[in-house]
Amino acid sequence: MYYFWWLQCVLHLLVWGSTLQTIQAIPPQAPVQCNGTICTLYNSYGAWGDRKDCHVKTVAYPTTEEELRLAVAHANRNKLRVKVVSKFSHTIPKLACPSTQQSDDSLLISTAKYDSHIEIDSANFAVTADGGVALRKLIDKVEEAGLSLVAAPYWEGVSVAGLISTGAHGSSWWGKGGAVHDHVIGLSLIVPASESEGYAKVIQIGAQDQLLNAAKVSLGTLGVISKVTFSLERGFKRSIKYNFTDDSLIENEFIEHGKKYEFGDIAWYPSKHTAVYRYDNRVSMDALGDGINDFLGFQDNEILVSESVRATEKALESAKNVNGKCILAATTLAYKKQIANGLKNNGLIFTGYPVVGRQGKMQTSGSCLYSPTIRIDSSCPWDPRIKGLFFYESTAIFSVTKFGDFIRDVKKLRDLKPENFCGVDHYNGFLIRYIKASQAYLGQSEDSIVVDFNYYRADDASTPRLNEDVMEEVEQMAFFKYRARPHWAKNRNLAFFNVQSKYPNYNKFLSVKKRLDPKNIFSSEWSDEILFGTGVKSDGCALEGLCICSEDRHCSPSKAYFCKPGLVYNEARVCRYSPATVL
Ligand SMILES: Cc1cc2nc3c(=O)[nH]c(=O)nc-3n(C[C@H](O)[C@H](O)[C@H](O)COP(=O)(O)OP(=O)(O)OC[C@H]3O[C@@H](n4cnc5c(N)ncnc54)[C@H](O)[C@@H]3O)c2cc1C
Ligand SMILES: *[C@@H]1O[C@H](CO)[C@@H](O)[C@H](O)[C@H]1NC(C)=O
Ligand SMILES: *[C@@H]1O[C@H](CO)[C@@H](O)[C@H](O)[C@H]1NC(C)=O
Repeated sequence: MYYFWWLQCVLHLLVWGSTLQTIQAIPPQAPVQCNGTICTLYNSYGAWGDRKDCHVKTVAYPTTEEELRLAVAHANRNKLRVKVVSKFSHTIPKLACPSTQQSDDSLLISTAKYDSHIEIDSANFAVTADGGVALRKLIDKVEEAGLSLVAAPYWEGVSVAGLISTGAHGSSWWGKGGAVHDHVIGLSLIVPASESEGYAKVIQIGAQDQLLNAAKVSLGTLGVISKVTFSLERGFKRSIKYNFTDDSLIENEFIEHGKKYEFGDIAWYPSKHTAVYRYDNRVSMDALGDGINDFLGFQDNEILVSESVRATEKALESAKNVNGKCILAATTLAYKKQIANGLKNNGLIFTGYPVVGRQGKMQTSGSCLYSPTIRIDSSCPWDPRIKGLFFYESTAIFSVTKFGDFIRDVKKLRDLKPENFCGVDHYNGFLIRYIKASQAYLGQSEDSIVVDFNYYRADDASTPRLNEDVMEEVEQMAFFKYRARPHWAKNRNLAFFNVQSKYPNYNKFLSVKKRLDPKNIFSSEWSDEILFGTGVKSDGCALEGLCICSEDRHCSPSKAYFCKPGLVYNEARVCRYSPATVL
């Protein structure tokens, strides 16, 4: 790809002679892989938060709601642990893994083949789809009917049931807001039942039903969602413009920005003192323009290039070359500005602002999912079959009133040494989005700000990272100082510590769970780890975010990473590279 040929020139100046190999690439591999003896469930990155594999003995692929019901009945009757996963499995925590480490009395239900029905009810502005339906397929159908789904995550490689289950969102404080589950007006849930009811039953939950508040964001722990009904609006277009500007006013401007633009967001690159404001409002269908938003990070990449970016990062990491990371970050940001992050006016290239296009083409993207068959050497950049990108994704959800202070603290940390943020800026910096208060028990009880930041993850769990301490301090500031809530589908385990105390309706959720799934068949030790925020301390645990260090051994003393207080948030305990110094 064009961008990367340019980047590669830079890379070659940075790294000499990295060995590259070509392999055949196709769309992402199926998340369930079986070898005759046992099946293994992977997520899209090929690694769970704890890096331990998820082995399951049996996997069911129902195609109808009745087959789904029978699968749940089978699990209930035979006292099996059961979980459901989509054909995408794009969630980072190991929520979808049913098994325990010891035993194999578990069943995994895949919705990969349960994806055929999409029914549009134009008169009532609604659509109902099977739980396994891909978001892109749903959106295309809806748009064909002249309607639009208002909210969606920015990444389209998700299923309709999977995405609502973890509270996935785009960005909006307007109308029903940016969280997709707040556009859900009904769903069908398959739950365990008594023997006389056939061991499993389908319950239909309507818009006014209290149960919807528990079911719409339920992390797969209440039952299997077989159908989802979303409310729609008349079809519309969007007009988008990015303003690459100075970051000095973010903490004062973010509230106004969310109020002024229906789909606004802000990408903040601290090391570059740059904020990118997305001016994004709806316009009528008559507005001229047939643009698309083909977000750069989700485009198809040549494997050679993804691998050489990774090789470069690794070389910079092991050389502790912060400035090299700054060159990468600068190159990426300059390119993003040049191509408007992947907006394309006519569907092919960016020719100037504003870019106007239909909602269905502007809200969400993921062109790397559909690698063209004529190209056998490209994939999503994080495809685990190649030696491509591997990173953490932290996502913290803040009360509006606390967010300004968080930004001020991060700026203080940045000002100590801006280069320390080049690593995160090489990804997407800090992406700031908006979601509205929700009735969902595990949704946000107040209008909120969501911040995503991605950063390098080493191939090996015991390898500390460049500026490890800085990202750990930001993470602890977010989740503990400012009590941000973790996005259920992302994050390292420590983000979930004490999560129960952050959701006012948490106990309501747990009591619904007790009622619908009294034998807890939809729970596993893995989902409990997230839901109850438990962690254990072991050597090196802080490197992977499985704990917060309290002793040096939780970091990597042999590599000179010791447990130290934060620089701005002194209560933080972070792993810092501190080679022997003269006292
Ligand atoms: C590249 C990338 C970009 C992303 N961008 C965004 C973004 O912009 N905004 C955002 O909010 N999120 C984003 N995410 C996170 C993503 O939206 C969530 O992880 C989403 O839940 C994934 O959906 P899935 O269909 O792959 O679900 P899975 O990973 O298959 O499952 C997720 C959870 O839902 C449960 N589940 C799945 N199907 C069912 C069912 N039928 N019934 C009951 N439970 C079910 C599973 O048990 C599991 O607990 C992104 C993820 C990636 C990898
Ligand atoms: C299948 O995979 C499991 C787990 O990775 C492994 O232990 C087992 O040896 C494999 N079996 C075969 C036949 O390859
Ligand atoms: C870009 O944003 C800055 C900061 O909000 C503002 O001062 C400036 O006028 C904006 N520029 C454009 C072209 O909108």
